[in-house]
Amino acid sequence: EVVDVRDRILLPGAVDVHVHFRQPGFEHKEDFRTGSAAAACGGVTTVCDMPNTHPPVSSAERFRAKRDLVEGTSHVDHGLWAGGTDLPELAAMAGLGAVGVKVYLNRSHRADDPYADELSMPDAGTLSTLFRACASWALPVAVHVADHDQEVRLRARLRAASTTDARLVSRSYRGDGVLDALARVLAAAAGTGCRVHIAHASLAPVAALDRIDAARRAGVRVTAECGPPALLEDDLDRLGVLGVPFAFPAGDAEAYWSALADGRVDLVATDHAPHTRQDKAAGLDDVWAAPPGYPGVETVLPLMVDAVLAGRLSWSRLAELTSAAPARLCGLGGKGAITPGADADLVVVDPAATTTVDAARLHSRAGWSPFDGRRLAGAVTATYLRGRAIARDGELLPGPPAGRFLTPEGRARP
Ligand code: DOR
Ligand code: ZN
Ligand code: ZN
Repeated sequence: EVVDVRDRILLPGAVDVHVHFRQPGFEHKEDFRTGSAAAACGGVTTVCDMPNTHPPVSSAERFRAKRDLVEGTSHVDHGLWAGGTDLPELAAMAGLGAVGVKVYLNRSHRADDPYADELSMPDAGTLSTLFRACASWALPVAVHVADHDQEVRLRARLRAASTTDARLVSRSYRGDGVLDALARVLAAAAGTGCRVHIAHASLAPVAALDRIDAARRAGVRVTAECGPPALLEDDLDRLGVLGVPFAFPAGDAEAYWSALADGRVDLVATDHAPHTRQDKAAGLDDVWAAPPGYPGVETVLPLMVDAVLAGRLSWSRLAELTSAAPARLCGLGGKGAITPGADADLVVVDPAATTTVDAARLHSRAGWSPFDGRRLAGAVTATYLRGRAIARDGELLPGPPAGRFLTPEGRARP
């Protein structure tokens, strides 16, 4: 196929290394079919899916089961993160092609979840052991940095205040305890040779960005991720319970935009966390009963394109943040670039168009978006996966899902 893209911008397909497509166990929120449709329509051609499913992906058997379950249902290429703390199982998942290991420093699930502890690893000694093991498999470790004790205290305080004030919840979630937890992670990583990836760095106070940068300068192999910091003050006011917990810290969006532009944040990933409106509404009675996060995989590239057109960063920085850097993190060398030998995963952007985000037209099963109604400069007009058009003007093109299961290349990295 020959495509004339005159007056358009051609970008490498976006690689989102942090999505929650909810399979198995939470298919009422999302599955690979719907999540990958959202990705494709938004210009994301590769996703890496997190292990906090039901049951979680914490053994080779479950890794294989998930790989086989989603086979043939994904519209975009996909890698899978491994989870858990069992080194022999992690080794086996590394052998099966996991793109990395995700570790939680809090309990990622509700208190009544029988699997609540399976993915968490709070103590520093075990963390170092894990980092050494992952270095030997050439796998990155993505860390959900949190201070569990602080969360418990805050939950009690906010419950007593019965507040749904998104700003208050957002701000109080990011206490200094999170910075201490980050310091422990960086200290445990030092000298192990492990690549440590700080997931959603925007969950920490903004000072975390400088701590991460300092560690990087001191030789720790650390990368940091955040989503497009588009949740500004008015969004938080408008969103109410839909925005908490875990929206962007009120007032700090500019700091994150600067960090994305100057390299203190290495890559953009969405933490696409589809929850139904009904799930979120639980927070009206008790804000901590609202599950954290929001759907974002279909809106991330349009939001980043809007940022380029607003002069916040360059097209090449955009391609680095949304494609090249995330592909490197997960060892997906054929992705994330427009170069000979790459996969021809491409996105066409019309810089002269305008897009209005319309939640009713998005493809996630969550059925809502924090960005609903936002007017954005530019439009993602076509998505190509390995040279074949899979989406145009926000809709899937007919044809069977063509996404492939991906495993990291070049395992011999030092
Ligand atoms: O916001 C989040 N949502 N952070 C997580 O770590 C979990 C995720 C989810 O699964 O909903
Ligand atoms: Zn997380
Ligand atoms: Zn996440």
